[in-house]
Amino acid sequence: MSCLSFILGRKDSSRKLGFEVDDELSGIHDVKLYTYRELKLVTEDFDIANKIGEGGFGSVYKGRLKDGNLAAIKVLSAESRQGVKEFLTEIDVISKIEHENLVKLYGCCIEGDQRILVYNYLENNSLAQTLLGGGFSNIQFNWRTRRGICIGIACGLAFLHEDVRPHIIHRDIKASNILLDKDLMPKISDFGLAKLIPANVTHVSTRVAGTIGYLAPEYAIRGQLTRKADVYSFGVLLVEIVSGRCNTNTLLPIEEQYLLERTWNLYERRELVGLVDTALNGDFDAEEACRFLKIGLLCTQDTPKLRPSMSTVVKMLKGQKEIDDTKITKPGLISDFMDLKIRSQPNGKKPSEKTTASSYNESSGSDNPDNSNLSSETSAAATSTFITNLSFETMPPGTTTFSFKTI
Ligand SMILES: Nc1ncnc2c1ncn2[C@@H]1O[C@H](COP(=O)(O)OP(=O)(O)OP(=O)(O)O)[C@@H](O)[C@H]1O
Ligand SMILES: [Mg+2]
Repeated sequence: MSCLSFILGRKDSSRKLGFEVDDELSGIHDVKLYTYRELKLVTEDFDIANKIGEGGFGSVYKGRLKDGNLAAIKVLSAESRQGVKEFLTEIDVISKIEHENLVKLYGCCIEGDQRILVYNYLENNSLAQTLLGGGFSNIQFNWRTRRGICIGIACGLAFLHEDVRPHIIHRDIKASNILLDKDLMPKISDFGLAKLIPANVTHVSTRVAGTIGYLAPEYAIRGQLTRKADVYSFGVLLVEIVSGRCNTNTLLPIEEQYLLERTWNLYERRELVGLVDTALNGDFDAEEACRFLKIGLLCTQDTPKLRPSMSTVVKMLKGQKEIDDTKITKPGLISDFMDLKIRSQPNGKKPSEKTTASSYNESSGSDNPDNSNLSSETSAAATSTFITNLSFETMPPGTTTFSFKTI
């Protein structure tokens, strides 16, 4: 996976593992329960040869179930920081909704300490491993395919945000959570972080979880979660799909490292078309591709209110709604802010030394300076390491702790 990701600020879930399984199951309805024995059998005892991926929560295996369906079997590692709560959230959320752009959950297994999710197997892996995987895929992502993928993801998100009651905020929209079926139709996966928003609530303050590079600034900094945080992540993903580039690439010259920054610069110079993936060999609808990039910029604006809703995004992508070019404002960029912080370390002082609250406040521009602090727990020196390995935990509302982790 070329984009590193982190689930952040989790509390120890081991206490909860002591809960009676019956208690956990009491909240689950209409979900098929698999026995551990069956899943062990179909994965040949979770043989490495059947392993198709690994994420922050554990390993994913391929197996053919007794009913003949191919499944992706996600085994949450015992030490996984995804707790029982997230596990149950995921089951609860996906089992109740169905959409052609959302991954289908077949069922789960809860036996002893085992927590396993069983999904529909998707033949063409994730966008992270194919489109952004550094040329190790033989899928041809022509313009028509990319257009379909962008619109499909937008439709899936619009469904979660606007059609489902209560609305669902996904919280971890990113390339590795977009899976492709045999026809390259995109399916949004990983609802473990989903947040259900009651109808009368405009935003929730929550522990920050997500993936650096896709995190909306207001969410990362203040823990303020609205559907617009997903819109931001979608915007980043949209630009990645059009450009064929990961949101951050520290191997590039400094001015090109952050995709959003690069997009904004090219937009200002009216050279957006230069960002479109060269792998398309010029075979794309330039006007449409630039429109998509502008929509990416609209979605990633610093002020959440200025970002469009996902149903508006769908209309814009389909060309059913005009984009007012003059209204696009500069993207909010969390890596920019972190870069600023890290570069502000005097004389290359390594961030292994504690950075005081005041030095963070001076440069952060946070709305909430008194309650914020920045600390570091690593001796790694490269700027990229810190940016891509940052972890957050929003403690009581208004108190944000940033900490760094080694790879
Ligand atoms: N339903 C599925 N069908 C096919 N492959 C899948 C499926 N679900 C997951 N995978 C594969 O397993 C990999 C790991 O998935 P997982 O969701 O555990 O982690 P991730 O999304 O890569 O990272 P993170 O833990 O940071 O979210 C995916 O990248 C994908 O390649
Ligand atoms: Mg995932």
